[in-house]
Parts: sequence; structure tokens; C-alpha cells
Amino acid sequence: MPLSRRELIALGVTGVLGAAAKARSLDAFSWPAPRSAPDATPDFDPDVEIVLTAAPAAVPLRPGRATAVWQFTGRLLKGPASALTAHVDSFLGPTLRFTRGQKVRVRFRNALDEPSIVHWHGLDVPEVADGHPHKAIAAGAEYLYEFTVENRAGTYWYHPHPHERTGPQVNMGLAGLLIVSDPDEQALALPSGDDELLCVLQDRAFDDANQFRYAANMMEREMGFTGDVMLVNGRPDAQWSLATRAYRVRVLNGSNARIYKLAWSDGTPMTLLGTDGGLLERPMEQRAVTLAPGQRIELWLDLTTRTVGSTLALRSEAFPIGDAGLDMGGMGMGGMGGMRSRDGAVPLGAPLTLLRITVARRETSTARLPARLATYDRAWQPVAGAPVRNVPLTFRRMVWFMGGRAFDMHEVAEDETVQADSTHIWEFTNAGGPMGMQMAHPIHMHGRQFRVLSRTGAAATNALREGLVDAGWMDTVLVLPGETVRIQVRFTAHVGTYLYHCHILEHEDMGMMRNFRVV
Ligand code: C2O
Ligand code: CU
Ligand code: CU
Repeated sequence: MPLSRRELIALGVTGVLGAAAKARSLDAFSWPAPRSAPDATPDFDPDVEIVLTAAPAAVPLRPGRATAVWQFTGRLLKGPASALTAHVDSFLGPTLRFTRGQKVRVRFRNALDEPSIVHWHGLDVPEVADGHPHKAIAAGAEYLYEFTVENRAGTYWYHPHPHERTGPQVNMGLAGLLIVSDPDEQALALPSGDDELLCVLQDRAFDDANQFRYAANMMEREMGFTGDVMLVNGRPDAQWSLATRAYRVRVLNGSNARIYKLAWSDGTPMTLLGTDGGLLERPMEQRAVTLAPGQRIELWLDLTTRTVGSTLALRSEAFPIGDAGLDMGGMGMGGMGGMRSRDGAVPLGAPLTLLRITVARRETSTARLPARLATYDRAWQPVAGAPVRNVPLTFRRMVWFMGGRAFDMHEVAEDETVQADSTHIWEFTNAGGPMGMQMAHPIHMHGRQFRVLSRTGAAATNALREGLVDAGWMDTVLVLPGETVRIQVRFTAHVGTYLYHCHILEHEDMGMMRNFRVV
């Protein structure tokens, strides 16, 4: 339900909303012209070559009519069969598995009827392979990616990145996991094969005809679009039937805007193996894990001492909406929930059961949790005297800004330009805007894995703090309302223009995104 003029006056935004809404209207946006893909490089001999197609499809998700989706499908032209695994009865794209050092070629075919481009979230790739929106290709066109896998073993993912259309395209189903392995990780002999579980968390809203609905009004875009049906690997009502074994669980928050506070239903602490950029130095225990859009964690799930027939659930615990999103409850308008009300809406912070596990079989398992998982290289060490840049996250005229600026496809400011192989400290300050217009923003940098140095300023009572994971390499960090988060980031040898942005996809599409340039 769109906001009435009276409600907007109450928000104090009528004067500017008209202009901002018009300037941001999708209809007014002119799509990029078709671009020819880079040609295959003759002396690039790929270890893995894949055709990845984005196309409309239909998937039976609920009783009744199938749901129209957009889906990535893959075909392996060269390389080990393990490089590509499709999901069954799911809109998720195939899981891609690469090994560090492999040369990968992907031929992306856009069979949608609008422009698109693919981004490899978390991977350190050359500029031309990063999927910047100015590389978007027209409907029917093909884009060629070639890169060497330089990242550590870890759980990464891929999704579209066209200007102002990332949110809707991901909501329609375009996303997949990208898993990197390397010899150090293989030597740990962590649970693999059937003992490695993938867990992509997403939420969707359905209309009466089982079709996905999407942000219908300005307010749903301001707040980020949340659905009311939870999906695991693209399926509702997820239930896993497992054995009395130890499992490695790779979890991605692939939701457009929903933040989860993950915990096991019986209070078992979560044992963390890894974060966005791969394994931690040592396993870590935490009662709950706050996972923001774009982020990944790897968990050790030990069911060896459970009894057959017992159950366990993965939950998202309740938290006050104001800890993550706009809480308009005090404004006498029936609260934000009332403003965006829709039958069955599940607000941000509502308690959720994401996944039900039944221990169904007794089996012996020899898997042991290693005491040490990884040794971090020098880039992890704090660098004294690294230049510090502050980036305020603000809200004005119904638009979110980074560093006081909105996205411009080709613009890079001086303070967004850095030398290759240099180390910087970037500090994100979640300042918000007038009238408490403040939200948690998951800030993501393309191509980089960074280290969180510190956080200050969030309310001591913020329930999401308990679950924050600041150990390990990250490419997406949640900045809570009022908080300043300092990260140390090492820019690698790939020069060119890359993006950093809020990973609430509606914020990204509204321009809470900027270029940085490595020279
Ligand atoms: Cu996963 Cu530019 O983002
Ligand atoms: Cu990315
Ligand atoms: Cu945001």
C-alpha cells in the first residue's frame, strides 16, 4: 500500500519525495546499449569452462500453480564434473566449485528480456570480469569472463548486478553459490560429500497465484524488501534428514534485505569454521550469529551424540525492528509494520524457524574438529600508519548516501582512488538522517577480503551485537545504527574500477553504492 500524502507529511518528506522519486524512477532510466563481450583470449587455456545462462523458468514451490522465476542454468564445457552441480526443484543457480589457481572461463548468456551482468561476490578478479553494471549486456547478448581463482578456499556466491535492477533480478531467483577449495583446506579433511551441507537463506513474498511479488512502493525500497516465506536452497519448509555424523554447513544470507540472528533451537552454541573469506584461524563458538545480506558463515554441526529421532531447528531469533531497520513505532502511525501492512507480513526481527533437522540414522563418523584451521598471511597484521578514510552513511531526501554521495556510473572521487598493493583503513559511520531514519547497512566491497578492526557507538542494548562475527576475512560487514566500523583493507594488484555498496539490494539499486578505483 503506497503511503498517503498525510503519512508522508508526518515523515517530513513531502517536499522532496516528488523530485527524488522522479529522478529515481526506473521508467526514466535508459538501459545501456548492447555491449560486445570481450573475446576469448587465445593463450588463456581454461581448466574449467562453463556456459551460464540466465533465463525465465517455472518452479513448483507451493501447492498449486508453479512460480515463474528467473534462473541461472549451467553447462560444463570443460573441467571436472564436480565444477557444476544443479539444484533440484529450485530456482537457485548451479553450485560452482573451483580450486585455487584454476583458470576459469564463463560464457554468460542473457536470455532475459532486460539487461544483466554477473558478479562473483567475494572473488578477487580483473576489472573486466567483475560484473560492474556498466558492463551490463542487453537481452540476448553474451559476456565472456576469464579469471584465475586467486581466493582462499571459502564460500562465495554469484548474482546479477545491472544498474537499478539487482534487487528485482535476485528476487526473481538469480543467484548461486561459488565454492573455492585449496590444498591447505583439503589437508584438514573437513566433512565433505554428503557431509557438506549447503544452506542458502532467502525470503520471498508470494501473491495469491503463487507468483513472487516485489517492492511495491517507495517505503518497501527505503527499508529493503523482505518476504514472509523463508526458503532454504530455494525451497520453503526446509527439512533435513541427517545421520549421527559431523557436518560442515555453508550458510549464505542470499536475502535482499533480511538480517538473521541465527541460533540452534536447543541452545547448542554455534561452532564457526569460517566467514566470508574462508576458514578462521581456529574454530570459534558463539551462542548466536548475526548474518546480514551477502554474508556467509561455515558451521560445524556435530550430531554424533544425538539420539535417532531427535530434532533440531535452525532459528532466527527475535530482535526489535529498530536494531536493524526503521522503527516508526513512536510516531503515532501504528508503527512501520502498520504502514506497510500486508496480510501475513513477517517484519524484520520476527522470530523464524528456517530449517528443521531430524536425526534419522545412526552412523559412525570419524570426523574431528581441527584445533587449528588456517594460518593468515601478513595482510592480516594491523598496519601502523595506514591512511584512514571516514565514510558516513546517511539518509536525506528519501535516499541513502555513502560518503555524502550517491552512485554515478562513471564517477570516482579522489578519496576513492587508491594505489595497488596498498593498505587502507576505511571507517563507516552509520549516521542516518533526521527523525531517527537509521538502519543497519551491510557494507560490501568488491574483490576485497578485509579485516574488521573495531566497532564503536552502537546502542549497548542492540540485540544484534551479540551475534556479530568480527573474526576472519570479510567482504561484507554489518554497520549497526549509530555505529562506526573500522576495517583494514589491502588493495591487491588488480587495477581498475570496482564497487562498494550496501548489500541491502534495494539500497544498492537506489544508489547507496560508489566506485573505487585502484591505480
Ligand atoms: Cu554481492 Cu556488488 O555485490
Ligand atoms: Cu561483490
Ligand atoms: Cu543500506
